[in-house]
Amino acid sequence: MTAQGKFVPSLRETAGARDALSFFRNEWNIYQKIVQSNAMHHRDLASLLGAVISKRFAVPFHFFDLACGDGVFAKSVLHGLPVARYQGVDLNENALMQAAETFKNCPYDFELHHGDMVAWVNRNRTPADVMWCGFSLHHLKTCGEKQALFSAIYQSLKPGGLFACVEPTCHAGESREHYLARTRPQVRSRFAALDDQEFSQMWAHISEHDHPETVQSWLSMGVRAGFETSREIYRMPGDLFCAAYLFEKPARRFTQA
Ligand SMILES: C[S@@+](CC[C@H](N)C(=O)[O-])C[C@H]1O[C@@H](n2cnc3c(N)ncnc32)[C@H](O)[C@@H]1O
Repeated sequence: MTAQGKFVPSLRETAGARDALSFFRNEWNIYQKIVQSNAMHHRDLASLLGAVISKRFAVPFHFFDLACGDGVFAKSVLHGLPVARYQGVDLNENALMQAAETFKNCPYDFELHHGDMVAWVNRNRTPADVMWCGFSLHHLKTCGEKQALFSAIYQSLKPGGLFACVEPTCHAGESREHYLARTRPQVRSRFAALDDQEFSQMWAHISEHDHPETVQSWLSMGVRAGFETSREIYRMPGDLFCAAYLFEKPARRFTQA
């Protein structure tokens, strides 16, 4: 089977989305250094997510990748799995050009959308089996914005579908300012692949755009959106920094007579 890929024209961007984009438009190569050195545990997360999906889906499934970047993470998750179709959305056109290269020889159809994931999920009318969002929900500033996206994601999944994400996570009762001060030293050692200039660019981005939530807050958003189960499935080693979460949509809806 020959893979087919296409770009879909831009969606409307929100002001918050434009802010988050400014770093990744200019500094995508710094982020790639971080990923390649496994400083954010992409390799561990890819094998974990691959195992979760293969346990759940023996038949071809549709995978939606929110804020997909260059698609390298998803490609490694999906390797060897029965993928019917991959769809990715990102604000960063450069990253999407790389994603087109990433998927060009894959044995499944792919579609890359340029635009804001919030707008995309809200207008999506083709439900998915699995939705993934890696290190990007935290660009939404408020709990209300994040909750609205969780609810839209729930609506965009088929019954029995899965949503998973990995996001910055703070201790219960910890302020954003305290989280940033506490995690800065460990982030500097995690990002050992970056020189001081690259680290300060990355840290400036994190300080301005990262809006972590507690474990309980991330899980509660899933519950409020309607997911049947919400659980933490991975925590980066060391003092709490980022964790991954899995949310399962009920297989069937029961209506009262
Ligand atoms: C930290 S990178 C993560 C990329 C990839 N998910 C990964 O785990 O390697 C953040 C990505 O989110 C994208 N992004 C941020 N806000 C977005 C939004 N509202 N809609 C779509 N993409 C967004 C950026 O362009 C960037 O590619």
